[in-house]
Amino acid sequence: MEFVRVARSGQVPDGYVRRFYAGELEVAVARLRGTAYATSNYCTHLDCLLSSGKLVDEGIGCSCHGSVFDLESGEPVCPPATEPIRTYPVKEEDGEIFVGVTEQDLADGGPRRRGAVG
Ligand code: FES
Repeated sequence: MEFVRVARSGQVPDGYVRRFYAGELEVAVARLRGTAYATSNYCTHLDCLLSSGKLVDEGIGCSCHGSVFDLESGEPVCPPATEPIRTYPVKEEDGEIFVGVTEQDLADGGPRRRGAVG
């Protein structure tokens, strides 16, 4: 596992989620109650972008059909999603956000939109 710098801390204000890349790996980085979290950017329901979603008290909410995922465990806490999203360890140092990924994660590019054309 290595920690890859993905953003400046100021790019993810409290209550926001944004898309970043660790190498080829697409991640959603969110900040809830001051703490930064990194997850897969694709909802496990029908692959909507979680970086287009909204943070709620319980975690990250998908804007498409309202699934909510816990930011630490990735578990769905509101339906319709039933499968967890991937979560990645996060470190913040000197105003920068680092996401912990494996070589395999970087090589695979992580979960992507299934069945997308092109
Ligand atoms: S795609 Fe996220 S709730 Fe349906």
